[in-house]
Amino acid sequence: MTDQTQRRVIGSEHIEQARQRGRIVFEVLPGDIVTTLAKETAQRVGVKLLDGPLEKPTYPRTDGKTAMQRGLYRRSARWIAPDHTVRRKVNRFGKLAIVGAGGVGANIAHLAANNDIANEIALIDIAPGVAEAIALDLNHASGITRSKSVVSGGTDLAMVSGAAVVIVTAGRARTPGMTRADLIGVNKRVIHSVGEVIKTQAPNAIVIVVTNPLDEMTVEMLRVTEFPRQRVLGMAGTLDSSRFRHSLVKAAGVNPADVEAMALGSHGDEMVPVTSLARIKGRALTEVLSANEIEACVKDAITGGGQVVALKKTGSATIAPAHSSVELLDYIRGAKTGSVPVSVMLDGEFGLENVVLGVPAHVGMSGFIQVEPLRFTDTEHSQLHSAADAIRDRLGLNRESVS
Ligand code: LAC
Repeated sequence: MTDQTQRRVIGSEHIEQARQRGRIVFEVLPGDIVTTLAKETAQRVGVKLLDGPLEKPTYPRTDGKTAMQRGLYRRSARWIAPDHTVRRKVNRFGKLAIVGAGGVGANIAHLAANNDIANEIALIDIAPGVAEAIALDLNHASGITRSKSVVSGGTDLAMVSGAAVVIVTAGRARTPGMTRADLIGVNKRVIHSVGEVIKTQAPNAIVIVVTNPLDEMTVEMLRVTEFPRQRVLGMAGTLDSSRFRHSLVKAAGVNPADVEAMALGSHGDEMVPVTSLARIKGRALTEVLSANEIEACVKDAITGGGQVVALKKTGSATIAPAHSSVELLDYIRGAKTGSVPVSVMLDGEFGLENVVLGVPAHVGMSGFIQVEPLRFTDTEHSQLHSAADAIRDRLGLNRESVS
């Protein structure tokens, strides 16, 4: 006989509470009084009233030591986040030099210092005080960023001395109505004077050209430094790809992380946003967007830089080009892996040679390694060849020779 003091009156509210806690059975002990309303509620909310006491499940018992080991193992980081990533070495540059402290150069220095990717960052600009001021400003920020990168600024090109990577942004930028190709004459002279100094002061450096017209200026840098093609790269593909992805994100109404796409070819009107390999949430563009929408995205990517120039009126884009340059640095130092669009002198890849063109490539601390042999459609393949012809025409080259 159950002790009268332990008798419970099970009301409707007890059943409701049990259901809210996720129970589907309610144990009724001998002597419990279950109200009629409680029974009705149990039926209504799907709780089964079972006569108890119910048999409790038994748990396997173990000794204290084993129990402790199991507990510790389950709390270990290895248990919480099994590490399936391939371990890779992320390098830090000894010295990064940036020639040109305009909007692009200053933003590259800012991102590079903030990401702490080099021991030393040298910023060089022809205008007295400009690079020095930015360098001091960036060093002042290190009390907050805690970046160990030490930034120096000056007008002397010899500051590139000993750099592992030299990024060249110096030169005139476009103003409204100009094409990048209109800058060939003036910026070729800049590239030649900077290249002469890099050749003697930083003979082992990887040179990244950002000055426009990008592909043509990369050819000029190769000529003047006489560096192997592995160490003279042009930055444009990361920028054009980012713009293309942005257009696709807007058109499809998805998040930036949902889109994979790249743009190759020239950094100009002959750019080749590769639609056949682009993916939105893993699906082909044609499954998500109409042909007109895809065409509009391609056009938006090609004209992206010009759109900024038209709005700004006094120069070209700075922020996206700086991020795109740092992205290339990240591939070089191994912080990102896989292939990255980069302008490089071709030597038979995709059936092209003696021309610098944006292609998907693997890069590392010694520069360009190899082109990723992606399969393009016939149209994309011939667009790449047209871009190569246009670049050769602008440089007055025939198809056989560059030097
Ligand atoms: C642009 C310039 C930097 O595309 O070429 O914005």
